[in-house]
Amino acid sequence: MFCDYRACFAHAITICVAFRLLWWWHRMIDEGIAMPASAGNRFTEALMHAHMPQKYNMAWAASAWVPEHWNNESQYAQWWRARRDDRSMDTLLHSYVVGNADVADRYRSVALLHYRCSDVPFVANPHYKVQPPQYAMWVARQLQAWNVTRVLPVLCTHHMPSRHPWSVRWAARTKCPAMLKDYLVRMRETAPKLKFLPTRCLGEKETLIAARHASATAQLMLSSFTFIAAAARPDGRFLTPSLGFSGCKPNNVSLSKSENDRLHALQRQLHWRMWVPTK
Ligand SMILES: *[C@@H]1O[C@H](CO)[C@@H](O)[C@H](O)[C@H]1NC(C)=O
Ligand SMILES: *[C@@H]1O[C@H](CO)[C@@H](O)[C@H](O)[C@H]1NC(C)=O
Ligand SMILES: *[C@@H]1O[C@H](CO)[C@@H](O)[C@H](O)[C@H]1NC(C)=O
Repeated sequence: MFCDYRACFAHAITICVAFRLLWWWHRMIDEGIAMPASAGNRFTEALMHAHMPQKYNMAWAASAWVPEHWNNESQYAQWWRARRDDRSMDTLLHSYVVGNADVADRYRSVALLHYRCSDVPFVANPHYKVQPPQYAMWVARQLQAWNVTRVLPVLCTHHMPSRHPWSVRWAARTKCPAMLKDYLVRMRETAPKLKFLPTRCLGEKETLIAARHASATAQLMLSSFTFIAAAARPDGRFLTPSLGFSGCKPNNVSLSKSENDRLHALQRQLHWRMWVPTK
């Protein structure tokens, strides 16, 4: 006989287990366990829960990094500055990424240029809008002023893809790299001394350690994911697009004169650097 009954049975089991493991591994990647997932939301929720139990609710907490959810801009700016000064963001971050000191060293001499582009901007979300090229040019000038030499662009085009239709996933894979390339062209023109390393998709923890310990961190798209890690930086070398204010969504670039002044006032109060579209 070709194989006896028991051996055949054992082979079948082995093959089943192997397929199951493959499927499971694929799901893990698909669900974002091996890719940047919603770490930003988890962090902001944990932080708000610890510091504002009286106000805490999950939806508010997950958006607490946006000024429009606060009573006013000074309350927002003061609260986040206090969380930098009491090191609670740092403590939270390092409790999550414990044992990665060597990874931090790997990124100290590069600036992190984080481009969150996967499900957003192809699924509508008012917090995540494509920034105009002027924003990337402002980032380039600021990095150069900080004497940054090497810049590492980070882009992962999948983010929990199984939640999104095929068209969104396809748009992310094809359009995000091209959009990043356009920004890089503008940045090179604006700041010719910056040297751009090849674009990479880093794991979730690695991205967060880099955002905290790189020579500077810039978000090309607003992102709750790297917000806590970068806002924890004692040197304030963190660049974000316009965050709006209470009554005005982030990214609104068509503001009246008084609203624009208000955005400038917010900019002065933050412990990091926020872009304001106009003078
Ligand atoms: C901002 O809101 C806080 C908390 O409600 C309040 O104490 C403070 O007076 C407000 N500041 C301004 C400038 O409105
Ligand atoms: C950048 O380098 C220049 C020239 O070495 C120096 O004068 C300046 O203070 C440096 N700026 C920062 C922010 O380190
Ligand atoms: C942006 O702000 C202007 C001025 O306040 C307002 O008229 C407009 O509706 C806002 N746009 C969005 C998309 O929120």
